[in-house]
Amino acid sequence: MAQILDGKKLAKEIKDELKIAIHQWVQGGLRAPSLRCIIVGEDPASHTYVKNKIQAAIDVGIAAETIKYNANLTEKELIAAIDALNKDSEVDGILVQLPLPSVMDERKVCNAVAPEKDVDGFHIINVGQLALDMPTLVPATALAVIEMLKRFKIETFGRNAVVVGRSKNVGMPIAMMLHSDKSHSSGLGMDATVTICHRYTPKKELDSYCRNADIVISATGVPNLIQANMVKPGATVIDVGITRITNEQGKTKLVGDVDYDEVSKIAGAITPVPGGVGPMTVAMLMRNTFQAAKMLRDKESLLQ
Ligand code: GUN
Repeated sequence: MAQILDGKKLAKEIKDELKIAIHQWVQGGLRAPSLRCIIVGEDPASHTYVKNKIQAAIDVGIAAETIKYNANLTEKELIAAIDALNKDSEVDGILVQLPLPSVMDERKVCNAVAPEKDVDGFHIINVGQLALDMPTLVPATALAVIEMLKRFKIETFGRNAVVVGRSKNVGMPIAMMLHSDKSHSSGLGMDATVTICHRYTPKKELDSYCRNADIVISATGVPNLIQANMVKPGATVIDVGITRITNEQGKTKLVGDVDYDEVSKIAGAITPVPGGVGPMTVAMLMRNTFQAAKMLRDKESLLQ
């Protein structure tokens, strides 16, 4: 049976480490890092996600607040609110929960957040810096995957990795980091050979790429997409998918992209859903917020 990569336990360890580091920061006389989460509209799942993020922030010592707006807020008003937070020296991190109402241009809104406060790593400058292997704020879900590979000591150097799903906020940054070059990146450098598959990859090809992979990372939101016969014995399987399904009894549960029961008999290591990448994503968002606070502090010291 595969080693279970327990994201819940690892996330707790990372949050405990952060809590200590933030405590020391505050003991040193600095203001606690601060995060503002903006949510527009009433989507219940989004409200739950934001609540979890705020709670995690408070738990580690980050001063966090939710800013709620009705769905009839205009894009112009939202951008004005973001701009006020950009200028507020008491705010280190800004997150705009997605999706936004369909009348808004998400790209425009993400680019309205000051890059140094963009704890989601969605601003074009942060995306560009990531593409260039430069230190930057990186999307938390992608960081969660990379941190799990690192902390569970999954070798990536020269290995074949497949990323299934090419979304700009998840699949793309994962693929970007996996193929980063140690010899010219500042620190990361995973040096894997990376293949990106997506909805138009023929099934036969998807099976073949996955079977050839030492590491399979699936981020599609398609339950049971990754079957046991697609996995090389001993491979590492990271499941980023989270889909809420309702069974015949009317009960809802969360499932990933991977047929966990069968794949765990073949894989060398596997992440569960729930309890895998999900809790790690929240932990990495907290790390990004502390990173933003440190960067802002460094910038302020330079100006003094
Ligand atoms: N909606 C779903 N995932 C995310 C995320 O990582 N960040 C934001 N801002 N919204 C999301």
